[in-house]
Amino acid sequence: MLGGTMRIKYKSPEEIRLMREASLVVAEILEVVAENVAPGASTWDLDRIAAAEIERHKVQSAFLGYYGYPAVLCTSVNEVIVHGIPRRDVVLAEGDIISIDFGVFKHGFCGDSARTLPVGAIADDKQKLVDTTRESLDHAIDLCVSGNRLGDIGAAVQKHAELNGYSVVRTFVGHGIGRAMHEDPPVPNYGRAHTGKRLKSGLVIAIEPMLNAGAHEVEVLDDNWTAVTQDRRLSAHFEHTIAILDEGPWVLSRPDSRPGYPAHQPAPHPRQ
Ligand code: MF3
Ligand code: CO
Repeated sequence: MLGGTMRIKYKSPEEIRLMREASLVVAEILEVVAENVAPGASTWDLDRIAAAEIERHKVQSAFLGYYGYPAVLCTSVNEVIVHGIPRRDVVLAEGDIISIDFGVFKHGFCGDSARTLPVGAIADDKQKLVDTTRESLDHAIDLCVSGNRLGDIGAAVQKHAELNGYSVVRTFVGHGIGRAMHEDPPVPNYGRAHTGKRLKSGLVIAIEPMLNAGAHEVEVLDDNWTAVTQDRRLSAHFEHTIAILDEGPWVLSRPDSRPGYPAHQPAPHPRQ
C-alpha cells in the first residue's frame, strides 16, 4: 500500500464475540441454501430462500444495496468467478458447480462466507478444482497466527493452487471485516511469504481464494457485476471470516471452530 493509509480496526474480545454471532448466522443460512442446491433450482430460488432466512433470523443483508447490488446472495455458476446475480433464468443442471457467497450484519457486525458446491454428480476434474480451492483456504487459515505476515496467506493460497495446475484470481481479494463488510487490510490470494503487514491478535479478516482452471484473467459482463473467467473455463471460490487470536485462528463462520482450532484439525476436547 505505497502512499496509502492503512487503517486496521483491531477488535476487542467482545467485538469478536459479536462477529462470531453474525458469522454463525451466515453459516447457518448458507447451509440451508446449500441443501436447496439441486438440478432444476434457479439461482433466484436460492436467493429467495436466503432472503426468507434473513427475515427469520432478524438480521440484515450485507450485500443487498451494496453499491446497488440487487440480491442477498451472489450465485456464481461454472465460469462465473464471483458476483453472479441470482436470476430466474439461471437454472442449475446436473454437473454444474455453483459458488454461493453470503453476508449479514447482526448487532452492527458483519459476517461473510462463501462455498462452491456441486450440482448433483460432477466430473472428477471439477471436483478437484473445488477441493483444491477449499484446501487453499484451509492452508491460509493455518497461517492466521500472530507474528505471521499477510504475504504468508497469499503465498500459501498461490502455491497450493499453482502446484495443482490452477491460477489465482488477482482482480478480487479478501479483506478486513468488522462494522463494515470491507475494511483494511486487503488480503490478496497471491504474493510472497515473509512480506507484508504482520498479523496480530484482534485482526479479523475474510480470506476468499478464487481459483481458475485456466488463466487468471477476469472479465466483467455488461451487468457490471458478473465476473467471469476471460477464457470461460471453470472457477471456484471459498471464503471464511477469521479472527486472529493469541491462541491462533478462530474461523468465526465455521460452526465447529474454536479459538486456536480451525476445525479441519481435530480439537483436543469434546466440542461444545
Ligand atoms: N463476499 C463478497 C465480498 O467480500 C461479496 C460482496 S459483493 C456484493 O466482496 F455486492 F454482493 F455485496
Ligand atoms: Co468477502
